Amino acid sequence: MKRIVLGVSAGIAAYKAALLLRLFKEAGHQVDVIPTEASLQFVGIATWEALSGRPVRTSVFEAVDTVNHVRLGQEADLVVIAPATADVMARAAAGMANDLLTGTLLATGAPVVMAPAMHTEMWEHPATVANVALLRSRGVHVIDPAVGRLTGKDSGAGRFPEPEEIFAALAPYLEAAPGVSGADAPGQVAADAGPLAGKVVAISAGGTREPLDPVRYLGNRSSGRQGIALAKAALAAGATVRFIAAHMDLPAPAGVELSTASTARQLQDAVTEAARGADVLVMSAAVADFRPAQYVDAKIKKSEDRADPVITLVRNPDILATLVSERAAAGGAGDLPPLIVGFAAETGDAEAGVLEYGAAKLKRKGCEMLVVNEVGENLTFGTDENSVTILFADGTAPVHASGSKDRVAASVIAAIARALEPVRQG
Ligand code: CTP
Repeated sequence: MKRIVLGVSAGIAAYKAALLLRLFKEAGHQVDVIPTEASLQFVGIATWEALSGRPVRTSVFEAVDTVNHVRLGQEADLVVIAPATADVMARAAAGMANDLLTGTLLATGAPVVMAPAMHTEMWEHPATVANVALLRSRGVHVIDPAVGRLTGKDSGAGRFPEPEEIFAALAPYLEAAPGVSGADAPGQVAADAGPLAGKVVAISAGGTREPLDPVRYLGNRSSGRQGIALAKAALAAGATVRFIAAHMDLPAPAGVELSTASTARQLQDAVTEAARGADVLVMSAAVADFRPAQYVDAKIKKSEDRADPVITLVRNPDILATLVSERAAAGGAGDLPPLIVGFAAETGDAEAGVLEYGAAKLKRKGCEMLVVNEVGENLTFGTDENSVTILFADGTAPVHASGSKDRVAASVIAAIARALEPVRQG
């Protein structure tokens, strides 16, 4: 049984929070609902009290004798705000405490998860983008909203994820040892609380850049989002996370041991160091397979009398495959992780399907798990959605996961937690 605070802010999706509350209750958790005053326009106190079986208040001036705003936050194992409006995220980012919900956020040491719901314009507004980035940098787990039908006729990013989907994303927090309260700092998870408690997980993320001259490079479009989501899910599961960041669009999550790298060869050094002594290595970074054979010290100029330059590429080391062979050479007795997880973006063709290509790559790379990202005509790059199949070298049945990158990350981390036990004991 966990003690959950369910914050409800003023969005039409508030009615879906009632279904989320039922899922919590059916799973045996104790839930205190804290609605914002404005959210009562959508769902009233009677509904929350009836479904939670607990008294419900919105203001710090009610039940003052129990010092409610501090008590609820202090006692919580998890604080979930669903739906989280642009307004409540702005107030949380600013550290305001002008109602019971935001006061509770300041007083809690438990993990905080927010499930935003709003119109696309509001979600994409620079103020909201900055607030979400700030909250995430403090360790708040902001679930990416779904893309789809919004209130009224419009559709786009900002839709409240289905209650079952949010419930699944919360699994790493709820599967933790019962009654263990959150953490030392707001938004952080106690290291002894989750399925990866005591484990060290090294995660590479982002894309490498291979310089051509002092101003140009060959790069790729990896944003680092999936790696960041994995790091947050691993932290939530209680792991110590060594995060090796190549180039990313977003800052690394708070709470990780961070190292950075630019080129594939630098990433190889950083990953190899981080992997030593770790229980798991997750290679979600997009590593350039090739680099320019020559780096030119001065900016390459387009002078009239010279022919157009030709760039010759040479192969970069395969970081993952090199670590797998080093581990094999040591007879598995070295200090490299017993569980190495690769990522692969695959498309099917006339000769074989995505999963056949994935299975072949899993064999070729020699790692224990491969997260195969199905890229195809109706699955687009650059979105917050992902669809993957996790393949296992030991013959465990493949696991399919789709939805937001947070959701996919939760599934990958859950699969890692399951796989780790036999690997460690074997
Ligand atoms: N990887 C790596 N070092 C490289 C290239 C890739 O460690 N030089 C890792 C990636 O981080 C990923 C996995 O290997 O976890 C699969 O990468 P991918 O590029 O899809 O595989 P390749 O073997 O390069 O196959 P392909 O020919 O399909 O690109």
